[in-house]
Amino acid sequence: MSAIRRSRTAGVANLVAKHGCAAVHVASETGEGERTRFREARLTSVIVGVTGASGRLGRLVIDALSRTRVDDRTRFGDFERPQTLNEALQGVDRLLVISALGTGDMVGAHRAAFEAAARTGVRRIVFTSMQNPVRDNPFPPAAIYLHSEADLTAVGVPSTILRNALYADRRADLARCYARDGRWTTNLGDGGHAFVTRADCAAAAAAALCDDGHEGRRYDVTGPVLVTADDYVALVRERTGADIERDDVDDDAYERDRAAFTVAPANAGTFELFTGTGRAIREGHLCVLGDGVHALTGHEPRPLQDLL
Ligand SMILES: NC(=O)c1ccc[n+]([C@@H]2O[C@H](COP(=O)([O-])OP(=O)(O)OC[C@H]3O[C@@H](n4cnc5c(N)ncnc54)[C@H](OP(=O)(O)O)[C@@H]3O)[C@@H](O)[C@H]2O)c1
Repeated sequence: MSAIRRSRTAGVANLVAKHGCAAVHVASETGEGERTRFREARLTSVIVGVTGASGRLGRLVIDALSRTRVDDRTRFGDFERPQTLNEALQGVDRLLVISALGTGDMVGAHRAAFEAAARTGVRRIVFTSMQNPVRDNPFPPAAIYLHSEADLTAVGVPSTILRNALYADRRADLARCYARDGRWTTNLGDGGHAFVTRADCAAAAAAALCDDGHEGRRYDVTGPVLVTADDYVALVRERTGADIERDDVDDDAYERDRAAFTVAPANAGTFELFTGTGRAIREGHLCVLGDGVHALTGHEPRPLQDLL
């Protein structure tokens, strides 16, 4: 992966399973080089941890790091059981905290991860956040990230924040459902969002972990273009051949439709955007076109249509 190749460090993955906190073993040396060279060089060992290593983003990060890995290891760590984190983070120098999504106290869970990192001697934290985490953003998890970013700063460990856009992967999965049904109900209005692929989020995270110079920085990790509802329908038509009918509704009607969509057996395993997500996009709260993927990896982000 280019981010690793141009890095002065080579990644070596060790990870963690359930609530996986992967301890990534990074070998650092003084010049550019490929894997074989790292093996021959005099290396300074650096351990990089990746939480959420059992999840979809975490696995992609591990894949990205694994291109230059020396060995693998997995550990268990649960943010909601902080006593498990000391062992999970043992010896970790740099830590990617992949945000958790749940019904519990997610602010407390993230804070526990940051505090454990500080306690166990982690020297750099990379955190996956979201766009525009401010008080008046109606995107439901915005409040979590608002607090978590502040908590990350408060622990005092040098950090990098990756404000990931919404995943293009899910938009692509949903497109197949809409194409099947011939219908898409939406409250997005004329708003646009730069959906980003998980793979690009993973490449950006791997680079933020392995490359130097990202401490104290915040990146908007987005796709290459803002995609509106018009664009989305046109893309789905073009890529699937299905003639989907778009039904623009207000937030109340959308919430009723979303609930029905989500419980349909054919939609098991996927779920539509929260009503607040559509509202946030419609009102421009998630209308960010960032250069995070390019700044971190050196390559351009892939567009949504690549996944359709
Ligand atoms: N940008 C977007 O569009 C978007 C959409 C949805 C979510 N997100 C955020 O991005 C994160 C990564 O996305 P993803 O697709 O990789 O999600 P995913 O496949 O659901 O993976 C989530 C990971 O977080 C771990 N986790 C959950 N609760 C945890 C806890 N209490 N302590 C430690 N680890 C915990 C999970 O471990 P287990 O498998 O063991 O439970 C899993 O490894 C999500 O967790 C969520 O915060 C972003």
